[in-house]
Amino acid sequence: MASQFRNLLQKNRNAVAAAAATGVALAPGVAMTTFMSDDCVHPVSYPWRHTGLFSSFDCAAVRRGLQVYREVCATCHSVDRIRWRELVGVTHTKDEVTEMAKEVEVLDGPNDEGEMFERPAKLFDKLPQPYANKEAGRAANGGAYPPDLSLMVKARHSGHDYVFALLTGYVDKPAGKEMMSTLYYNPYFPGGAISMPPPLNDGGVEYEDGTEATISQQARDVVQFLHWTAEPELDERKKSAGKYLSVLAFVCVATGLWKRWKWGPLKTRMISYVKET
Ligand code: HEC
Repeated sequence: MASQFRNLLQKNRNAVAAAAATGVALAPGVAMTTFMSDDCVHPVSYPWRHTGLFSSFDCAAVRRGLQVYREVCATCHSVDRIRWRELVGVTHTKDEVTEMAKEVEVLDGPNDEGEMFERPAKLFDKLPQPYANKEAGRAANGGAYPPDLSLMVKARHSGHDYVFALLTGYVDKPAGKEMMSTLYYNPYFPGGAISMPPPLNDGGVEYEDGTEATISQQARDVVQFLHWTAEPELDERKKSAGKYLSVLAFVCVATGLWKRWKWGPLKTRMISYVKET
């Protein structure tokens, strides 16, 4: 599985390098499968294991993804829709999540004296936000607001593939491409110039389970985490669909048999008329 990811990534890199060498304007002619007549490269489709009809989230990957999110992305991005308690039973046990939450201070109040106060976060609190508001986020990032990532996988075309490609797709800008000096070249981002500096580095995090933290591994894990934040109920939904659809199939067959049984005598009878003599 990991090698399939690496091969596809390498194929895509080669195509991007070819495009960069010929100039992005020529890109559509370079590799029709990868490029379209757009101002960005479309990601290839990666073999995600958790998107199948009968597959569930890989909790170990989601746990590693949470670690990447907390150690890397959380400096700039929020996942506003997720509360600590939702991680219980998915990435960590209740005690582990309670411990993690405790390390974060949240503003609460007002208390009896009308004062706001800080207290350690509890399970019902949201994951911490990096900035007090959008303006603070913009001010810290050269005018671009780092969007909330909770629903990002659902908010972009080919969500997971796009985020994975974006995170692993930083390359040198092609000759002749004009860009502000504060922007970074990423052919997957519409327009090619993004304000987000390349967030991932090889070995940028140290995984507890000993998995080697390459850029593509971290990207793969964080994308699975972001898919989970976008659809935490996905596994449950697939399970319910399985139950309901099998009952529905059974009921359909039973209804058919019932109908045949009920109509059998009527449909097989023969009516003959005897002339009165
Ligand atoms: C130094 C701050 C910073 C860090 C760290 C960072 N980002 Fe970003 N990110 C940004 C900014 C700023 C933007 C807005 C870019 C723009 O609009 O040009 C952005 C945009 C994005 C987008 C949206 C792109 C789009 O199509 O609009 C995604 C997805 C994203 N970041 C994912 C991540 C992930 C995943 C991580 C962690 C691995 C991460 N970012 C780490 C600053 C950051």
